[in-house]
Amino acid sequence: MGSRGLRALLLAAMTLALSGACGEPGRPAPRDEASLAPYVATPEMIVEEMLRLAKVGKDDTVYDLGSGDGRIVIMAASLYGARGVGFELDGELVRQSTENARRAGVGNLVEFRQQDVLTVDLSPATVVTIYLGRDANLKLRPAIRSQLRPGARVVSHDFDMGDWRPEVVRQRLDESGMVRTVYLWRIARDGVRP
Ligand SMILES: C[S@@+](CC[C@H](N)C(=O)[O-])C[C@H]1O[C@@H](n2cnc3c(N)ncnc32)[C@H](O)[C@@H]1O
Repeated sequence: MGSRGLRALLLAAMTLALSGACGEPGRPAPRDEASLAPYVATPEMIVEEMLRLAKVGKDDTVYDLGSGDGRIVIMAASLYGARGVGFELDGELVRQSTENARRAGVGNLVEFRQQDVLTVDLSPATVVTIYLGRDANLKLRPAIRSQLRPGARVVSHDFDMGDWRPEVVRQRLDESGMVRTVYLWRIARDGVRP
């Protein structure tokens, strides 16, 4: 290939790369740098399993890290009278969640905040629910270990916490026949025991 051909190829490659990364000038980038996972909802029957496994009750405060449409804290409030906070990067999902909670009649028990989960103070939570990914779980481990109180439970849909040994692992088929795994850890007096 001649030097003109090579220059044209390089230019095309750069244009392609930048169009995916930057969006239009003056507008926010289409992908949020802080995003740990895309939005994929946990099926309701698996949400019920997560809440059952953690034995959520009316004295619990459930934090869902990456709360999507708010279904986990809304169900914890509707079924068990628990309080809950959902943390979500996407402002539109935060707005939808607030509306979903109002419609479900639990707007007094739950709230949703537009916040990066890696900046959340977890200490008020007695139950933390997560459906993000293994890398995200590993990034959350220091806060889980240092901020959650003894007796608090952590429930993760489909992703483990590296070498932290779960207290319970349960597998369920969802409505489409896909295997879903739910993990439970409990904070011991000296932090999570691997
Ligand atoms: C797989 S969805 C899970 C939604 C919900 N928890 C559920 O189980 O149905 C992950 C959610 O986390 C949000 N998310 C990803 N990274 C985040 C971050 N750093 N801080 C807050 N939310 C985040 C995404 O926008 C998405 O809505």
